[in-house]
Amino acid sequence: MSSGGGQPADSGHPELTEGESDFVVVANRLPIDMERRPDGTTSYKRSPGGLVTALEPLLRRRRGAWVGWPGITDGDEDPIYEDDLEMRPVALSADDFADYYEGFSNATLWPLYHDVIVKPIYHRQWWDCYVEVNRRFAEATAKAAAHGATVWVQDYQLQLVPKMLRMLRPDLTIGFFLHIPFPPVELFMQMPWRTEIIEGLLGADLVGFHLPGGAQNFMILARRLLGANTSRANVGVRSRLGEIQVGFRTVKVGAFPISIDSEELDTKARQRSARQRAKELRSQLGNPRKILLGVDRLDYTKGIDVRLRAFSELLDEGRIDPEDTVLIQLATPSRERVQSYKVMREDIERQVGHINGEYGRVGHPIVHYLHQALPRDELIAFFVAADVMLVTPLRDGMNLVAKEYVACRSDLGGALVLSEFTGAAAELRQAYLTNPHHIDGVKDAIEAALAQTPDEGRRRMRALRRQVLAHDVDRWARSFLDALADTRDGDTPRSE
Ligand code: ADP
Ligand code: F6P
Repeated sequence: MSSGGGQPADSGHPELTEGESDFVVVANRLPIDMERRPDGTTSYKRSPGGLVTALEPLLRRRRGAWVGWPGITDGDEDPIYEDDLEMRPVALSADDFADYYEGFSNATLWPLYHDVIVKPIYHRQWWDCYVEVNRRFAEATAKAAAHGATVWVQDYQLQLVPKMLRMLRPDLTIGFFLHIPFPPVELFMQMPWRTEIIEGLLGADLVGFHLPGGAQNFMILARRLLGANTSRANVGVRSRLGEIQVGFRTVKVGAFPISIDSEELDTKARQRSARQRAKELRSQLGNPRKILLGVDRLDYTKGIDVRLRAFSELLDEGRIDPEDTVLIQLATPSRERVQSYKVMREDIERQVGHINGEYGRVGHPIVHYLHQALPRDELIAFFVAADVMLVTPLRDGMNLVAKEYVACRSDLGGALVLSEFTGAAAELRQAYLTNPHHIDGVKDAIEAALAQTPDEGRRRMRALRRQVLAHDVDRWARSFLDALADTRDGDTPRSE
């Protein structure tokens, strides 16, 4: 890691000093979530979501700095050092949490970018707070980054940071990656602050999406809203980048499907302890013939209600035998004060109660529902134990759970039921693909997965594993960061 620390940056902001990190990741959350204990002390746990799963191992290897919110309101901003990771907390007040995080990020952007499954709320006060918090993230990053450093900004909560950061620190190379879908033009045009968001993103040298469709939507919007010149509108995966001309700068745009640390999961799932725990789980469940599993943040985009409804109807129709089948649904608590999440949680818990009421027996519920985040090793044992993995989102940028399941099945057992509306479906073509809006189709897919022959299962799983093991998170990060480095090596001027 190089230095350059303490020098004033050439930013027009004399109070800003440069930091020491050559590589900085900026994300809404730090990889750790602080918790305040009743006695006033604090403890840490891993923070939720696919972004942290993907980036934490990478950043540890690269010895970079991570700028993000530590998971509690009004925390302090002293740097935290943990092994090879330097964390720079950005404090959020209770009002910031309500307006920037729960409000604009998760009640405006999240539903708008996920096909308006629930209605996005447009609130001027939330927007003002989003601008203000993005500014604070940009300032904290400007202080952490060494001269000429590479900064990688993550996800929808921080879409204004690239432009703000470029204004503070024109010496930096800035990448942005969106971990959720980028919506079609017709939907994005609802956004009252649509031009500001596109301008914010165009502060980056490279803007990345999971799928070519998201990259294309973005290029169309840049042309329509800013009159920008764009070329190569048909952006492909990784190698084919689009270009947007912004004044004298060229912004590259591309598709980079994210993945997981496949090898690590594969190794852990092969261990005797994981296999034994999986056996123990099956026996704790009463040794059913078939175990179905869902693993999600408790989010309305994940289609947990869809799979419960399909399961319930299959039971009603006698197509699943309640005596020898169980469904486990693990659901990490998420965004619990946001109204649409409260409504969804009530609905899911009502469905679980209904199914157990109709088909359970004393000591033998048919749906096991845990509203908890499980330790990683325990989760791996669940993946090893599950005969059918249910991944049925109505919309999902990628869905890492689907890839994690596949990585854990070196025995070539199990079957994956996967929604066509996930990014993962573009790669995992040998899954039982299904349209979550078509309940009869979901039921057929579940039934087929339950009834597959061992040969058919092995054939599918072998093909799925080939894809997931070859395309891991390292390859994803390398392809993004190589493309980002190319923007610096090209003749693009550093600032307008
Ligand atoms: P998202 O980023 O929307 O939450 P992903 O499927 O991409 O969805 O990533 C979710 C991550 O969180 C995965 O790494 C998954 O293993 C983990 N996860 C989800 N639910 C649980 C749970 N109940 N316990 C432990 N880990 C979980
Ligand atoms: O990419 C999906 C994502 O929203 C991440 O940005 C986020 O860290 C994760 O899911 C979990 O959500 P939250 O941070 O709101 O708990």
